[in-house]
Amino acid sequence: MKIKSILILLLSLQISLICHAEDAATATPIPQELLTGFSAVPQPTTTPFQAILTDPTGNFSLGFLRQNQNQLKLAVIHVASSEPFWVANPTRLASWAHTTRLSFNGSLVLSDSKTGVSWSTATNGHRAVLLNNSNLQVQNRATQTPIWESFHFPTNTLVQDQNLTADKSLVSSNGLYSFRLGDDFMGLYTNLNGGKRLLYWKHTAMEAKDEVKEGEGPIYARVNSEGGYLGMYQTSSKPVDVQKFSTFQQDSTTSSFLLVRLETDGNLKGYYWNGSNWMLNYEAIGETCELPNPCGSYGLCTPGGAGCSCLDNQTRFESGGCEGGGGGDLCGGRGFGGGESYRVLRRSGVEPPHKELVAHVTTASLAGCEGLCERNCSCWGVFYSNATGFCYVLDYPVGTVLGTGDGSKVGYFKVREGGEGRNRVGARVGIVVGVLVLIGVVIFGVGLCVKRLQRRRGVSGGMLKEENGHGASPGPYRNLKSASFRSIEMSVPISR
Ligand SMILES: *[C@@H]1O[C@H](CO)[C@@H](O)[C@H](O)[C@H]1NC(C)=O
Ligand SMILES: *[C@@H]1O[C@H](CO)[C@@H](O)[C@H](O)[C@H]1NC(C)=O
Ligand SMILES: *[C@@H]1O[C@H](CO)[C@@H](O)[C@H](O)[C@H]1NC(C)=O
Ligand SMILES: *[C@@H]1O[C@H](CO)[C@@H](O)[C@H](O)[C@H]1NC(C)=O
Ligand SMILES: *[C@@H]1O[C@H](CO)[C@@H](O)[C@H](O)[C@H]1NC(C)=O
Ligand SMILES: *[C@@H]1O[C@H](CO)[C@@H](O)[C@H](O)[C@H]1NC(C)=O
Ligand SMILES: *[C@@H]1O[C@H](CO)[C@@H](O)[C@H](O)[C@H]1NC(C)=O
Repeated sequence: MKIKSILILLLSLQISLICHAEDAATATPIPQELLTGFSAVPQPTTTPFQAILTDPTGNFSLGFLRQNQNQLKLAVIHVASSEPFWVANPTRLASWAHTTRLSFNGSLVLSDSKTGVSWSTATNGHRAVLLNNSNLQVQNRATQTPIWESFHFPTNTLVQDQNLTADKSLVSSNGLYSFRLGDDFMGLYTNLNGGKRLLYWKHTAMEAKDEVKEGEGPIYARVNSEGGYLGMYQTSSKPVDVQKFSTFQQDSTTSSFLLVRLETDGNLKGYYWNGSNWMLNYEAIGETCELPNPCGSYGLCTPGGAGCSCLDNQTRFESGGCEGGGGGDLCGGRGFGGGESYRVLRRSGVEPPHKELVAHVTTASLAGCEGLCERNCSCWGVFYSNATGFCYVLDYPVGTVLGTGDGSKVGYFKVREGGEGRNRVGARVGIVVGVLVLIGVVIFGVGLCVKRLQRRRGVSGGMLKEENGHGASPGPYRNLKSASFRSIEMSVPISR
């Protein structure tokens, strides 16, 4: 009895040792460089991040980031917080499937065996590495100098000591806002339809510092890790302007990592890493009503804590805006003759947000100001100040408006008729989905009939599969379904 139990013990010990050895073998360390011939595919069960390449400190990692269950983004993340610092911008969304692959052949290439290459560094390099500041580089063999680096293709984040030049921009992850440099200023913009941009925050180089000199090259921005500020630079390493981070300790021995990020509400925020959390230490915009669209379409933001309400005082404020909103203009006649129909909403005690950045004309009366808009289908509304005669014309959809106690400042706004709830993009997607479902139902129906016929004739499904590769009836239906999902995914962000 004793011997038997000892044997069993030894056996189980051996089994557990083998299992451990196998565990160690499968948990291969994450490489610090990728060489020609490297290739990785997403593992079906991994969520939300599959590391592919690490930096020497282990603080950062390049890998597959899983989003919305089935989407795959190639991203550099900060490991401890899982925050993505950089995301590749492919020509088409990649899916979390065995057909998707990241490889290195001199270029880092993201491809799908069904649809081809969706993103590539288009280089002929020796290796890919991740630096200890989160910069992903493809390097030359001889000199190990970078021939491609992710720092030149920022997404929504600028990490310390990364340069943002005038030809680049940060874009918020929802695509609505951007941060970019002008001739002598940094600005925050709302991205409008058709590539138009609307400036809502502007910071010009301060007089106290070096002035921006004309003809001495463009300016660039950088988070200075030694001084703890967001700086504007021209040619010299001395900044022409600094925006100090609030809680930066110059004498701190363990310098903490700094970054700025353009958030989805349009604010530019600075953070430092305290070892376990990202702590806020800079905000470009401190007052909620100064944000680009804090109360949504046709919302009214009243400074001083009153918060959001609706321009139309008959409507209760709900998050996401007050009216249907929708983009574009009111010019789309579409065979109905003239512009689209709208109703007019008037409100007193309102003024344009960021009015110092908005152009105006001067009219003798409110009627004259409204007249500029009434007959023009690319106009969405006007603001008029009785005291100054200033008339502000909105040639973009009405977002959040600023409330003021001054009743002589009035607004005139067009509201698209029948635009409540559903906007045009939503309707278009709805139609596409409807048509595709209809086609699917028809094909499915035909498929069933064909199958039934075949069964009657005694043809087996297995043979049909061999003859036609994927089988006649289920094949086309399946392909159509996957293609239609892709087209819906694509059409939404593009038409926004
Ligand atoms: C690497 O692969 C991509 C995609 O297959 C291809 O277009 C490119 O020419 C290849 N580059 C080199 C250097 O072989
Ligand atoms: C990061 O890398 C640079 C250059 O390779 C080095 O000088 C620096 O000490 C490194 N920093 C950390 C925190 O490892
Ligand atoms: C940013 O620009 C400065 C000045 O041109 C340069 O010295 C520095 O190396 C750049 N930083 C990076 C990360 O490219
Ligand atoms: C990087 O790693 C070091 C050592 O583990 C840690 O002290 C530091 O906070 C990390 N930095 C970031 C930005 O995660
Ligand atoms: C709502 O607005 C209309 C038109 O501006 C005004 O006549 C009415 O008094 C307002 N009602 C309330 C409850 O404020
Ligand atoms: C209509 O408004 C737009 C934008 O304000 C302006 O550019 C255009 O000149 C106006 N058209 C007419 C005919 O007034
Ligand atoms: C606008 O100004 C005119 C003259 O300055 C004045 O008569 C009128 O009452 C004002 N209207 C409003 C609504 O303040």
